[in-house]
Amino acid sequence: MRRVVFNQKGGVGKSTISCNLAAIAAHRGRRTLVVDLDPQMNSSRYLLGPEVEKTGPGLGEFFNEMLSFKFNRRPVGEFVHETPLPGLYVLPANREMEFLQDKLGAKYKIFKLRDALDSLMDFDEIFIDTPPAMNFYTRSALIAASAVLIPFDCDDFSRQALYQLIQDVGEIREDHNPHLRVEGVVVNQFQPRARLPQRLVDELTAEGLPLLKTRLSSSVRIRESHDQATPMIHLFPNHKITAQFEALWDELNGVTLEADTV
Ligand SMILES: Nc1ncnc2c1ncn2[C@@H]1O[C@H](COP(=O)(O)OP(=O)(O)OP(=O)(O)O)[C@@H](O)[C@H]1O
Ligand SMILES: [Mg+2]
Repeated sequence: MRRVVFNQKGGVGKSTISCNLAAIAAHRGRRTLVVDLDPQMNSSRYLLGPEVEKTGPGLGEFFNEMLSFKFNRRPVGEFVHETPLPGLYVLPANREMEFLQDKLGAKYKIFKLRDALDSLMDFDEIFIDTPPAMNFYTRSALIAASAVLIPFDCDDFSRQALYQLIQDVGEIREDHNPHLRVEGVVVNQFQPRARLPQRLVDELTAEGLPLLKTRLSSSVRIRESHDQATPMIHLFPNHKITAQFEALWDELNGVTLEADTV
């Protein structure tokens, strides 16, 4: 399964959710890859730690090779790196990706990511983390994937952006990728006791938006997990949020939810 985690709003939990779901998938025996399309490199750093800058070639080099006329382009597998966690791999971002995107767009390289991932046969799960913008990399991801998972922070301002996003996904489906579907909207940093988030969730549900049942609460442990470059399932296996990430993974995979996890 190849899924993109995207919302054009910054800081809603794209990288946190991509990496923690990927870590759970790997922990459960699925061979899993995280593709970090964000030049901020947050997912790469989360999974590889401070050594990330010294990790070998990443997506910057991969896309650079796409721009040069070369007969011996390296296969994408050569840009995939092991993480310290068994079964979990990363195709890391580099900062130079930021400066490549105009050229990549102008040279119509939008299908190259899909072709590259098609050639990687040995992964059960691929999570694509995206930058907070509908840019070349995000479009490439939406063309390459079959599902998009949308983190949402229950902010009234984000609501309009959510409609726009669902419309953009529909356009990409129509124009380039008939396999693409919205897998669901996952509410992150949900405050069950506050009135506004609950009202927003109820309204969006009534409008027919595909809100997932599992909600993720807020916890300082998430920041600690980023600091220690260790996903929640390994750093805090018994924490409430870890259970929520596991419930989310189960929900995405069609496992029936227990009432107390939602
Ligand atoms: N459930 C949560 N509880 C507490 N903090 C969280 C939670 N989810 C995310 N955060 C924090 O919010 C910040 C933004 O999260 P994250 O980097 O995952 O968002 P993002 O959507 O990937 O951001 P960007 O758009 O910049 O790529 C981080 O500092 C992260 O630690
Ligand atoms: Mg991010």
